[in-house]
Amino acid sequence: MQTNILRALVGTLAFRTSLAAPTARGNDPKDNTELLEKLLTAPTQAHRFQDILVDGSGSKFLNDEELAKVTVHNFEQNQFNITGSQGGWNSPANTESFPILVGAGLAVNLGTVGPCGVLLPHVHPRANEFFIVVDNELDFGTRVEIGVFGGLSPSPEYTGKLKKNSGTLFPQGSVHYQINNSPNCKESTFVVYLSSEDPGTTTVLQEPVGNGTLGRRQVGREDFEMIRAVTPPHIVSVLDKCFARCNIV
Ligand SMILES: *[C@@H]1O[C@H](CO)[C@@H](O)[C@H](O)[C@H]1NC(C)=O
Ligand SMILES: *[C@@H]1O[C@H](CO)[C@@H](O)[C@H](O)[C@H]1NC(C)=O
Repeated sequence: MQTNILRALVGTLAFRTSLAAPTARGNDPKDNTELLEKLLTAPTQAHRFQDILVDGSGSKFLNDEELAKVTVHNFEQNQFNITGSQGGWNSPANTESFPILVGAGLAVNLGTVGPCGVLLPHVHPRANEFFIVVDNELDFGTRVEIGVFGGLSPSPEYTGKLKKNSGTLFPQGSVHYQINNSPNCKESTFVVYLSSEDPGTTTVLQEPVGNGTLGRRQVGREDFEMIRAVTPPHIVSVLDKCFARCNIV
């Protein structure tokens, strides 16, 4: 008899768990593996919303605190250091760090570049990028494909300056970079919209650095010396003048 009650109880628990138990979203992307496995095999978007937003009853949303965890992304978390960025960081909201983006078809980054910092030339293989400066300013370069000037003319690069609250498109597959050459020698902040939930980033010919562009967060000439050898000469010349102007040693 007692065994039967126990069995019934266990059965009920098991049923409730499989019915709609939400899988908590962790603060670290690694914590989201279980939820992501569910989301990626869910047959419809409604099932995904259920997996993410609905509590164990199956008929109401999570409590406010839990709901905030899965619907509000905090860019202060999961920041990556970028060597050469003079203390800058990049924080991506993508399917890994913010699982509600599964099926949304986009990713968003928030980041900073310190004075005389650079985000070295790179490509996003699967996304167009709309890049917006929201504080201070950043210079950029965009290298588009062969033939833009006709025939088999080499890939030309255009450059520009983004003042606060302005932005540019880095077309999918274009090689682009950003430099903080601001006259005030202060940090700049940017927001990035990418047209894929898995945009990817490919660095361009930076293998000699060994560890991609990720490293320790640091400022000063020491940070740039880590990447000098793999930085194109026209960028080195801008940065060397910037270091002198901003008194960065
Ligand atoms: C790459 O990473 C290794 C191990 O973390 C470290 O010892 C090495 O100094 C790094 N190399 C560069 C150029 O940052
Ligand atoms: C970022 O840089 C800081 C300071 O150098 C270091 O403590 C931290 O481990 C770095 N983070 C990553 C993800 O490498």
